[in-house]
Amino acid sequence: MAPRTSIADFRNFLSSSNRIVALCGAGLSAASGLPTFRGAGGLWRTHSPTSLATPDAFEDDPALVWLFYAWRKHMAIKASPNRGHYALAELAKRRENFLCLTQNVDGLSPRAGHPDAQLRALHGSILDVKCFNECGYVDKNNLDDPVCPALAPAAEDYPSNETLPLLDPNVPLPSINVEDLPHCPNCKTGLLRPGVVWFGESLDFAMLDEVDSWFRQAPIDVILVIGTAAVVNPAARYVDKARRMGAMVVVVNPDPSSGAGLSRGDFFFQGDASAILPQLFEDIIGKMDEAGRIV
Ligand code: OAD
Repeated sequence: MAPRTSIADFRNFLSSSNRIVALCGAGLSAASGLPTFRGAGGLWRTHSPTSLATPDAFEDDPALVWLFYAWRKHMAIKASPNRGHYALAELAKRRENFLCLTQNVDGLSPRAGHPDAQLRALHGSILDVKCFNECGYVDKNNLDDPVCPALAPAAEDYPSNETLPLLDPNVPLPSINVEDLPHCPNCKTGLLRPGVVWFGESLDFAMLDEVDSWFRQAPIDVILVIGTAAVVNPAARYVDKARRMGAMVVVVNPDPSSGAGLSRGDFFFQGDASAILPQLFEDIIGKMDEAGRIV
């Protein structure tokens, strides 16, 4: 049976909902100009982004992995939150029982003013750096861009109609000595690495416990699944967990196949999260202008 698609029905449903959770992914930041992981043109040079997001990849070629993350960090710092981030932040300010779980590491939700207590960055933050040798050193919200002089080619600005040389697989990668990559100021032996969760690594246990206890506290009315392919665990499992706690599932995604698996009673809104979320929450947050301000 097809899911519902009426915005009016969803607004009525949301108004009477109490416990709300969202699982967000790269699609939430697409309208801010940040590329998704599995989208069209998803290769970074000749590499799939997920093949660069592993401790083994960093061990094998730290300069390559750092160039990839330094470029993503530069993009994230340059980008601005969009109306989707602002709509979620406004909903959080008005509904204390709303918890937003984001897989995004770009820092755009905090920059949209999303209250910290109602936001969990499941995969860490690209603005954090930590020691690869796990000596415990972490530097949070580090805005250095470029990350270090050797990584300057990842932080160059190019006109939008030209390709950044770093992204052109026909242009050889800059050769970078490992000694010129950032090193840990604490243990003095380890390389610094981005503070994101890589494939094969665990998410922060304390954060997972907190999220699990929020899920167990009481029935959940709705889970919003926004701009995520929902294929990476454990994040993706929250959709079924919420369903088991009674939640209706609401998918916001331009890809028609992302509505597969929804049932009668669930909702599917096909399109750009930055356009759809302000409409979905309008009864609670009010009307939002193009810049993401409530008018
Ligand atoms: P994906 O790239 O897998 O999925 C992005 C989703 O966003 C797709 O379903 C798109 O259809 C959808 N999308 C694209 N544009 C959109 C828009 N304007 N509005 C709404 N949706 C849009 O990204 P994630 O699901 O976030 O993990 O990927 C999950 C994790 O896999 C990432 O956090 C990262 C990655 O590998 C790690 O690095 C550990």
